[in-house]
Amino acid sequence: MLLTVTPNPSLDRTYEIPAIERGGVLRATAERMDPGGKGVNVSRAVAAAGHRTVAVLPLGGAPGALVADLLAGQGIEVARVPVAGATRSNIALAEPDGTLTKINAPGPELTAAESESLLSTIRSHAGSAAWIACCGSLPRGLGADWYAELVARVHRAGTRIALDTSGPSLLAALRERPDVVKPNAEELGQAVGRPLATVGDAVKAAEELRGQGAGAVLASLGADGQLLVSAAGTYFGFARVAAVRSNVGAGDASLAGFLAAGGDGAGALAAAVAHGAAAVQLPGSVMPSPADLEPSAVTVTTDVPLDRPLTEPVP
Ligand SMILES: Nc1ncnc2c1ncn2[C@@H]1O[C@H](COP(=O)(O)OP(=O)(O)OP(=O)(O)O)[C@@H](O)[C@H]1O
Ligand SMILES: [Mg+2]
Repeated sequence: MLLTVTPNPSLDRTYEIPAIERGGVLRATAERMDPGGKGVNVSRAVAAAGHRTVAVLPLGGAPGALVADLLAGQGIEVARVPVAGATRSNIALAEPDGTLTKINAPGPELTAAESESLLSTIRSHAGSAAWIACCGSLPRGLGADWYAELVARVHRAGTRIALDTSGPSLLAALRERPDVVKPNAEELGQAVGRPLATVGDAVKAAEELRGQGAGAVLASLGADGQLLVSAAGTYFGFARVAAVRSNVGAGDASLAGFLAAGGDGAGALAAAVAHGAAAVQLPGSVMPSPADLEPSAVTVTTDVPLDRPLTEPVP
C-alpha cells in the first residue's frame, strides 16, 4: 500500500470559457470538479496502476465532503482528518486555445490540535504502507518544520518516506533524512541558492541535498528528463515526447511511477520517466494508466550528459 499525504488539498473547479474579458460576465460552456492536490494526484496515478493507496487529507466543510465523495467514486480510500475550516476551492479558467488561468485559494488555517491529529493519523497508517509520499505546500498553521516532524515519526514506524515540497519546509526536513526528495529544476536551484544551467549543475545540486540528509534525489528537469542521485549511483533518464498537451501534474505522475516501481534504482527511474512522458501527453492533470505508458521510448543511463544545457535554465 502507498500512503499519500496532502496537507492542503483542494476542490478544483474548472470552467471552460470562450475568452477572458476583464470586468465582464464570463459565461462558461462547461464545468467540472476534481479532487485536487499533489498527494491526491500521486494516489490517482498509483490507483490507475492497480495498486492500493490511501490518501490522508485534512478535510472540512462542504468542499471537503465533496473531495471525499469524488475520491471514493474513483476507488481511492481516504483517511480523513476533520478540520473546522472549509477545504479550499481552486478555480481554473480554460480557454479554447489551451490557456489556463488559475486562482488558488490559501485554504483553512489548521489549529495545533488539527496539526497533531494529522500527524497521528499518518503515523497510525504508516505501519501498513511500503512508502509514504508527502506532497505539496503546507497550509497556514503548520510550521516550516512540520514535514521534518512527520519524517521523524514515520521513520520511527519503520516506513520509507518520499517528500515533494520546496522552500524552507524541504530544507528543514532534510535533517531528518527523508528517503527520497523530488524537486523540479526550479525547486532544486532554490534549495541550493544558485542558478542551474546544465544537467551537471543539477547533479551537483542534488549531491548537495544528499549531503544535507536526503537519501536519494529524484530531480525532474521538465523537457530535459530526470536524474536519480542515490547511494547506488547517478542515473539520467529521458524519453522523447511527440506533443506536450499539459505538464501540470507530470512531476506527481513521475513520483507515483517511481514509488510504484519500488522507489530505488534504474528501473524505478525508468518508470518515473515513462509516467512523466505519458502525463504531459494527457490533458490537464489527468494521470496516466498503464495503457498510456511507452516504456520502450525511455532511455536510462549512467552516462550522464553533464555538459548538456537545460532547455529552461534556472536563473
Ligand atoms: N516538455 C516536456 N517534454 C517532455 N517531457 C516532459 C516535459 N515536461 C515534463 N516532462 C516529463 O515529466 C517529468 C516531470 O515534469 P516537471 O519536471 O515539469 O515536474 P514538476 O514541475 O514537478 O510538475 P508538477 O509539480 O506540476 O507535477 C519530467 O522530468 C519529464 O520526464
Ligand atoms: Mg512538482
